[in-house]
Order: sequence, then C-alpha cells, then structure tokens
Amino acid sequence: MYPGTPFRELYHRNSVPMYPGTPFRELYHRNGVPMYLRGHNIMKKILVTGGAGFIGSNLVDALMADERFGLVRVLDNLSTGFAENIAHHLSNPKLEFIQADIRDYATCLAACKDMDFVSHHAALGSVPRSISDPLSTNAVNITGFLHVLQAAKESGVRRMVYAASSSTYGDSLELPKVEDRIGKPLSPYAVTKYVNELYASVYARTFGMELIGLRYFNVFGPRQSPQGAYAAAIPLFIQQLLNGTSPTIHGDGSHSRDFTFVDNAVQANLKALFSENKAALGEVFNIAFGQQTTLLGLFEMLRNLLNVSTPAHFGPERLGDIPHSQASIEKARTILGYSPEISLEDGLRQTVAWHQGISNHPSI
Ligand SMILES: NC(=O)c1ccc[n+]([C@@H]2O[C@H](COP(=O)([O-])OP(=O)(O)OC[C@H]3O[C@@H](n4cnc5c(N)ncnc54)[C@H](O)[C@@H]3O)[C@@H](O)[C@H]2O)c1
Repeated sequence: MYPGTPFRELYHRNSVPMYPGTPFRELYHRNGVPMYLRGHNIMKKILVTGGAGFIGSNLVDALMADERFGLVRVLDNLSTGFAENIAHHLSNPKLEFIQADIRDYATCLAACKDMDFVSHHAALGSVPRSISDPLSTNAVNITGFLHVLQAAKESGVRRMVYAASSSTYGDSLELPKVEDRIGKPLSPYAVTKYVNELYASVYARTFGMELIGLRYFNVFGPRQSPQGAYAAAIPLFIQQLLNGTSPTIHGDGSHSRDFTFVDNAVQANLKALFSENKAALGEVFNIAFGQQTTLLGLFEMLRNLLNVSTPAHFGPERLGDIPHSQASIEKARTILGYSPEISLEDGLRQTVAWHQGISNHPSI
C-alpha cells in the first residue's frame, strides 16, 4: 500500500510506537485509508495562520466540517482579514482564535504547541503593496514565515502546508508554468514568496520536516475583499459593476491569468495535508484551474453575469505585474491527486451571488 515506506517508519516515529497494542492489520489500513495518517481515530489539531483572511477562512470552514480534525486554531492579527469571516465558528469549542502577530516568535511558538498540522496562510498579499512598502511585506512574509516554520519545527508539528504564489514565476515567459522552471522575481512580494520556498526546501532537507508549498494562481471567491488600494481585480470589478461605476483595467486588457476558485484551493490544502505520497514532501505545486483568461474576457463574463453594460476604463500597466499566467497542474494532479472541480464560470457565479447577498460584511 505504501511502496517504499518501511513498516518500522510507519509504526514508529522518533522511536515512539505510534499505536501500541493496535493489531498490525488495523494499524495499516482501514477502508483503504492509511491509519498512520488517520491517527487511529485520534482527531487532529491544526493551526491556520491567516485563518481570518479570504483563503484561510474558506479553509477553516472545510476543516471545521471535517471530522478528522478535533481542533482548529486560528492565528491572525486581522490586519487584512476580518473576525466576521470566522464569526460563525466562534461559539464552537472546536475553534480557537488567537489575535496576534506572526512577527512575534513567542506567539508562533505558543500557537504551534500541541499541533499536528500547520497551514500557513498569514502574509501581506499584493504586488503593488510590496512595491510601496517592501519593509512590511518582508517582515511579515519572510520573518513571519520563518517564525512559523521554526516554531512548527520546535513544536514537533507533523506537517506544514504553506501558501506560495505564482508570482514566483517572475519574468519567465513560458506557458504553461511548470514548477521547476521559474524566472526572475518582478516585485518584492515575489521575492518573499520565493524565499519561503527556499526556506521550506532547506528545512525539509536539513531537519526532515514534512513541508508542502501550494503556488496559488489568482484565487477568487466569497470573502475576498474589494476594499482598499490593494484589492484583487475580481471582487473590485464585481463591487464596482454592482455600484454602476467603471472598473479600471490596467493595460489593454490582453493580460491573462489562471483564475482559481477558492474551493479548488481548499481542496488542494486538504490533499496536501493528508497526502501519503512521499514524493509530495519538500515540494511546491501549482494550484490553479489550468485555464488562461484575459482581463477583458473576465470583464465580459462579469458583465454578463450581472447583466450590465458598464464600460471599463483602461489605465497604465502596473509595475511588477506578470503579463501572462497559466499553470500546468499536472504535478499536483499526479502527486497530490488534486482535481479542481469548480470552473471559472461556476466560481464567478458563486462569487457574484455572495456579493449580491451580503450587505453588512465589513470587507464590502
Ligand atoms: N489570493 C490569491 O490569489 C493568492 C495568490 C497567491 C498567494 N496567495 C497567498 O495566500 C495567502 C492568503 O491570501 P489571501 O488572499 O487569503 O489574503 P488575506 O489578506 O485575505 O489573508 C491573509 C491573512 O493573514 C493575516 N495576516 C497578515 N499579516 C499578519 C501577521 N503579521 N500576523 C498574523 N496574521 C497576519 C491577515 O489579517 C489576513 O487574515 C497569503 O499567503 C497570500 O500571499 C494568495
């Protein structure tokens, strides 16, 4: 069942018998699911940094509904996230919320205590933000990342899955993007996300940690905020079209992206957390839908969904922007079993419905 994994390694970790007294057959598999990952009915504890943010809170919803988890601990300083994103779980004892900052190492150490898994999503996103304030982006995305990584190591966390970024492909013109062929970074944000990968690779090789990076490609969906100078295109366009104002498209609209609905990213996280494939460890994976869409194409789809004819403004291209992006998702498919289920069209429909259905969310 687990080619190449010696029984002793499955049975013992750090020389401690994992499930003393359990018959081998039961230990080894139940319903085809490896018991060493299921933990023999022991429910898992997971720390989600950035769990009050857009992707993090969608992941928290899935973890709260997943019976393999007995405790979901969220660490977030609410700088770009919202307590409202996880408010519906706050009365559930399965959720713990720590409002604190990953730039503080002691906080990270306390948050990692007793955790089986860490899902690291806390970061300062946005290429333009990193260009106007590289120091903050560096402090959160590199120092903060290293704090979480080191704390996970010190706490004996079994596995950490972290948010990487397609910005790591930088100036590479190759399409589709394949994990081991990257260009030079085009922004401080891209540097920070690449440094995360370098640290993860070193910690995996040097300390034998189980680390998996997910290079997200333009994730969108409910709870992505349209507010502020650094809002992503999809929530901003939807909100502007709903308000009858013209969105600004940077460049002539021919730039393209691989827009990925958040449920697909959540699926990738669950696959990575529970993958029994040793080939996944120490690796990074493109997480996308695998389809290239221009900004003009996206704009048209949104206008059709909202049934409006508001025109777009065209502004100057933005510094640090990658012109074209489309992922090969073969590596994630083959090694993690990732299989994105929600198309761009369906994802946009759900996202538009979310924007139309909420009136009192602080992010709107
Ligand atoms: N959304 C995308 O398309 C995309 C693409 C590539 C990578 N990513 C990465 O995915 C992760 C999540 O992104 P998102 O889109 O959900 O962004 P988000 O801003 O909604 O979420 C980030 C969360 O981290 C928290 N945070 C920020 N700084 C912190 C700090 N110092 N200490 C503790 N918490 C802090 C914020 O409050 C927020 O809740 C980030 O690492 C981001 O770089 C996102």
